[in-house]
Amino acid sequence: MDIEDDSESLSGSTNTKMVAERFITKISDDSTVLDIGCGFGTVTEALMNRQHRAKVCAIDVSESCVQVMRGKKERHEWSNVECLVADAQALPFPEDSFDVVISNLLIQNVTHPRDVVTEAYRVLKRGGQFILSFWTHSGLAEIGADMMERLIGDRGSMYGHIHTIEKARELLLDGGFINISDDRVEDSMYLTDWNDEMMEWSLMIFAPSVSQWKDHLAIRFITDMKKKMQHIKRENVAIKMEAIIITATK
Ligand SMILES: C[S@@+](CC[C@H](N)C(=O)[O-])C[C@H]1O[C@@H](n2cnc3c(N)ncnc32)[C@H](O)[C@@H]1O
Repeated sequence: MDIEDDSESLSGSTNTKMVAERFITKISDDSTVLDIGCGFGTVTEALMNRQHRAKVCAIDVSESCVQVMRGKKERHEWSNVECLVADAQALPFPEDSFDVVISNLLIQNVTHPRDVVTEAYRVLKRGGQFILSFWTHSGLAEIGADMMERLIGDRGSMYGHIHTIEKARELLLDGGFINISDDRVEDSMYLTDWNDEMMEWSLMIFAPSVSQWKDHLAIRFITDMKKKMQHIKRENVAIKMEAIIITATK
């Protein structure tokens, strides 16, 4: 995905923002925070909009996302924010570096979720908090699954390995975390204010499945999904979403 760094409108979707708002209340002003898979900075931006004084390092594997984040940092003079291209499955930080690690809607996009948990644990200070969220229901993922079924006769595994509170708890306990608690966020989202870049970006949730397909099928899927999303936008149809936010301590 190639994104011009000239758009202030690039931000998380309404629903990722809604989940992010719940995160913010869990972060104190004097913390060092690592936002893994920051995207266009939904969490980091929400923190900065509240004049939060936490020191934030925002990382994403996508250079385009980090480029957008660097533009925002410069424009808004976020002196307490650093942006870096990095893989959440192999973090370039020493152990015991952060008070809080945030993973807003990232874990279902990675190939090795267990590595994300291991790395979050490693870079957290003792007593530090890992806050992560994931979808238990996404109207968009369901539309994608319907389309996959039509194209390849298989709905795929849109929610990856992590799609229930039990699965997430198991993963975190295996990773050494304690004091695991959960919180549920439900909402309907509309694509009314989504531009083409937002639509393209949201299709990333399908990357783990689609990247394994033959090119012509992948192109057909992406093209059909974009058409479908344009239709949903025009008709102002509500898309139901439900996410879980888990907090765990090292
Ligand atoms: C659904 S988006 C969520 C973005 C952001 N956290 C938010 O709340 O809007 C997932 C993000 O994870 C990033 N991502 C995917 N795999 C990653 C990895 N292995 N390491 C770091 N970031 C990754 C994608 O580039 C994308 O920006």
